[in-house]
Amino acid sequence: MKIRIDPARAYRMINSGCLVLLTAAHKDRTNVMTIAWHMPVSMKPPLVAVALGVSRFTTELVDASGEFAINIPPANMLAKARRAGSISGRDMDKLAELDLAFSSGKATRAPVLQDCLGYMECKVVNRVPAGDHTVYIAEVVSAAAEDTVFDGAWLPSEGASLLFHLGGPRFVVAEKQFEDDA
Ligand SMILES: Cc1cc2nc3c(=O)[nH]c(=O)nc-3n(C[C@H](O)[C@H](O)[C@H](O)COP(=O)(O)O)c2cc1C
Repeated sequence: MKIRIDPARAYRMINSGCLVLLTAAHKDRTNVMTIAWHMPVSMKPPLVAVALGVSRFTTELVDASGEFAINIPPANMLAKARRAGSISGRDMDKLAELDLAFSSGKATRAPVLQDCLGYMECKVVNRVPAGDHTVYIAEVVSAAAEDTVFDGAWLPSEGASLLFHLGGPRFVVAEKQFEDDA
C-alpha cells in the first residue's frame, strides 16, 4: 500500500543531497545559512544550483555580491547547522554567534568555514525565480577538501561523516562508503 503525499511535502522523497552551510559576504556583513536544496548541473563549465528562500538575509548578500561558498559540515556540526538554519543573520553576526571560525575565500570574498570537510566557492551566472525561492546557478571557481576524507569522491568514515536532511528534524548520517565493482 502506498500513502498519499501532500504535493507540498513530496520534495521530502528526494530531499537528500548532503546538508551544506552556504556562506556569503557583502561590504562589512558576512552570513551563513543551512541549505538542503542544491545540486550540480554542469561539468563544463562546473555549475551548481542552489534554491534560496527570497526572505533569507543570505539571499540579499548573494544578490549584492554575486558570490557564495558551499561548505560541507561533518555530522558533529549538526547542532550548529540546525541553528544556522533556524535564526537569521539579518540582525546579528551569525558566524560569531555560532562560533564558526572562517577565512576569506581564495577566489571570492565568501567565508570559508574552517571546521567543515570541504568547500566550493561559487560565482552566480544566472538567477531563476521559483515560487518562494530563487534558484541561483553558479560557477565553481575554487574548491578544496580534507585529503583524509576526499580522494576525488567522499570517503566518509565514523569520524568524518556527512549529513543528509530528510525533512523536519530527521537526518541521516553517511559514514560508510563502498565500491560497487559489478
Ligand atoms: C536542515 C535545514 C535545511 C534547510 N534548507 C534550506 C534550503 O535549501 N533553502 C533555503 O532557502 N533555506 C533552507 N533552510 C532554512 C534557512 O537555513 C533558514 O531560513 C535560515 O535561518 C536563513 O538564515 P538567514 O536569514 O540568516 O539567511 C534550511 C534549514 C534547515 C534547518
